[in-house]
Parts: sequence; structure tokens; C-alpha cells
Amino acid sequence: MAKAKTEFVCQACGARSPRWLGRCPGCSAWDSLAEEALETRTVKARGGAEKSLVRSITSVGAEKLERTSTGLAELDRVLGGGLVPGSVILLGGEPGIGKSTLLLQAARAVAASGNPVLYASGEESVAQIADRGRRLGALTESLFVVATTELEVVLAASHEVKPALLVIDSIQTLRSSSLDGAAGTVGQVREVTARLVDMAKQHGIPLVLVGHVTKEGSIAGPKVVEHLVDAVLAFEGDRGQGLRTVRALKNRFGRGGEVGVFAMTESGLEEVASPSRFLLGDRRTSLAGSIVAPTCEGTRALCIEVQALVAPFNFGNPRRTTSGIDSARLAMILAVLERKAEIPFSTMDVYVNLTGGLRIDEPALDLPIALALVSSLRGRALPPEFAAFGEVGLGGEVRAVGHLEARLREAKALGFASCIGPASRERTEGLMPVRTIEEALGWIER
Ligand code: TYD
Ligand code: MG
Repeated sequence: MAKAKTEFVCQACGARSPRWLGRCPGCSAWDSLAEEALETRTVKARGGAEKSLVRSITSVGAEKLERTSTGLAELDRVLGGGLVPGSVILLGGEPGIGKSTLLLQAARAVAASGNPVLYASGEESVAQIADRGRRLGALTESLFVVATTELEVVLAASHEVKPALLVIDSIQTLRSSSLDGAAGTVGQVREVTARLVDMAKQHGIPLVLVGHVTKEGSIAGPKVVEHLVDAVLAFEGDRGQGLRTVRALKNRFGRGGEVGVFAMTESGLEEVASPSRFLLGDRRTSLAGSIVAPTCEGTRALCIEVQALVAPFNFGNPRRTTSGIDSARLAMILAVLERKAEIPFSTMDVYVNLTGGLRIDEPALDLPIALALVSSLRGRALPPEFAAFGEVGLGGEVRAVGHLEARLREAKALGFASCIGPASRERTEGLMPVRTIEEALGWIER
């Protein structure tokens, strides 16, 4: 293929240059210019001039999307009900989290119904993929594999197979020969993605792209292609015993924020239909410093355990260690407790942990975190029949959060008679309403 026209684009400020420069003329950043293909595609009106290019929004009927199940209800939920033809999904996650495993399982399910699936890997040999497939019970005749790092090979293979699902593992390992630069550079990742997206849209093939995530949490390289894809899924969690979650950060064919929950086993990823039970399974009832909180992710309520440990500190600065929650949120809660309950946290080390390796950013965790902190400090547990949720304001007020019904229902299903939470006009059954953080702390004294 002829080499496409290229230009050099600063990855920091977007300034363009026809030549490579060591320093960006726009923002003076060093070594920030990367080669990218020039956009040369021109818009061609289809069907001649007499045909109108636009139509009134009222004349557009509601289209029913034909969806293909991935065989994993948890993944289907995150996608909004399955794979949509021509949709492009970016699945990001740290190495070893289980991206290849998850997609090979999905490929197995789609191929099992006789539809061809193409799994293209630039990371593993076909022998390695087949070996994994054997362990996952994914040896199906209509599952085709190709090991390559060349985009053009993938496109040709796809042309041959005409797959009902195309998996690219991973986007950073592919390179196009129409562009200089190694695989994984911003220019290559962008070009490879654009070409694959074009192909998927043209032939109505659902396309899943794997993207590796850097330590900072951004999908390295692929961060720049997030706008090119229809859905961005983040695969996160504990590589040990805990749960792994797939979260929709963006979804044009479903609601964002939905989460699917999995556990890694000997035979691949297993769906966890009741994560609350999984998470609270070995919890000892009524422990000082431990509070159960019904959180909400997407449309799903999830009971998790918040653990806190407060201890006097010896020297230097007091420690603030969090796992699973936002540390800025903890700092705010500590400041409010310091003011409202006159607890001198500045003289104490504080550790807060969500069990199960989950990470949850939800203001509804404020109140359970505050209760767990004070419970640990006082060495007294909350009565075992209580769970807690609610946002805490800077004035110490306990604020309403969404999905009240779902939270109360989930807590009840797990055997909690009542939730300490924000007062609500809608419902009081199963709710122990509190207006302020002081009022909530009263429950630890008894
Ligand atoms: P993998 O899917 O290769 O992760 P990624 O593609 O995100 O880098 O697998 C992650 C880990 O899971 C790997 O270290 C091995 C383990 N694993 C199991 O425990 N059970 C299994 O059945 C499989 C296939 C993998
Ligand atoms: Mg992999």
C-alpha cells in the first residue's frame, strides 16, 4: 500500500508541523511531536444531487437494535443488552486483569451459535490462544484466530472470515504499514483504530478493541481514540482473591455507569450475580470499625463493607491510607468529624479500606466511612442489624442520595433490618433517618 500523507502533531497542545521537530513550536514541549496520517477522506454525497442529505427528526422511526449476546449476562448488561452490529467497544485494563480471558469467553459464546468469530492477537501466538481456549472450553470450529501485528493482515483476515464478532488484542500491538512509527505510538494507535472502525461500520461487524492501561489509569495511547469508539469499558479490580468489575465509562448503545461483576477461577471468569453475598460472605458480624454500606453502581445496588482503623501516630505526619475510596473524600470527612464531633484526627493514623478490592466513588459512602472511623476510634461496633449510607456535607448535614429504594432493598435482602441514612419523605420503612452526622454517631454509643 502507498504511504499515506502524514504530518506531525504535538501530543500535548495539538500544534501541527509538516516536519518532525524536537520541540513543539506551539507549547515548547520537548519530544512531543508524533507522526499522524493526514485526514484526506472527502465527503461524497451518495445518490446524486436530487437526493436530500437531511431529514426531519420526526420522520425517523425508532430502530430496534439487533443485539448478539456475549453469553455473559454481566457483560451484556454493561453493553446495554449485548453486542450491536457495527459498534466499536474499547476494553481497557491493566495487564493480567483478564481482558483476553473475558473476550475469548465472549468469542466462544458467539461462535457456539455457528457464527464465525475472528480473534486477532498481537500479543500471543495462535498456540497460546488455543491453549487458553482449551482451558476455557472455547474450542469451537467457527472461532478463528490470527496472530499478527499488522493491521493489513487483520483486515484481510476479516475479509476472509466475515466475522459476527471481531476481537483485537490489543490495539497497542498493531501497526499500519501506511505510517512510520512503531506500534503503540499515538499516531499508529489512532490510525489503526480509525481504519478498523471504518471497516466495522461498513460491514456491520461488532468490534472489540483491547487497550492497555497505564498506572495513571489512562488507557495508554487508546485514550486518544476514546472519541472514535461507541463504548469504553474499564476492567478493574483486585488481581488476587477479590472481585473484578467491568464498568461502562461511555456507551452510545446503553447507559453509562453500568457495572458487571466477575471472579477469576481455574476455568476462566465466572459471573458473580450476587456480589453483595460474595463480598460479605466471611464478614464477622458487629466488628468495631466495620460498616456495611449499600452502594449503587449503574442500576445495581451492591452491599460492601467499609473498614476503618484509627490509631495514635508516633512521629512525622499522620498517615492517611485508603484503598478503594477517594482520598480527597476521606480528608473532607475527617475535617467534618474534627469540627463537628471534636475528634482530633490530626494526631492519629487513619486507614480506610473497601473489602473485596473494589473501587467505588460515591458520595453515599461518606456516612458509612465516618461511622466506621468513629466506631474504630471508640472500639464500639454499630448494632449488627444496621447498614448505613448517605452523603455528608461540609456542615455535617447528612444529604439525600439517589436510588433509595434499591439500596434499602439490597440491605434488607442481606439481612440488615435497617439503614441509617438521610431522612426521606418517600419512605421510612427500613430507614433510620438522620439529619446530621452527630445524630448518626449517636448509634455507635448505644
Ligand atoms: P489475561 O486474560 O491474560 O489478562 P489480560 O489479557 O488482561 O492481560 O489473564 C489474567 C490472569 O488470569 C492470568 O495471569 C492467568 C489468570 N487465569 C486464571 O486464573 N484462570 C483462567 O482460566 C485463565 C484463562 C487465566
Ligand atoms: Mg491479554
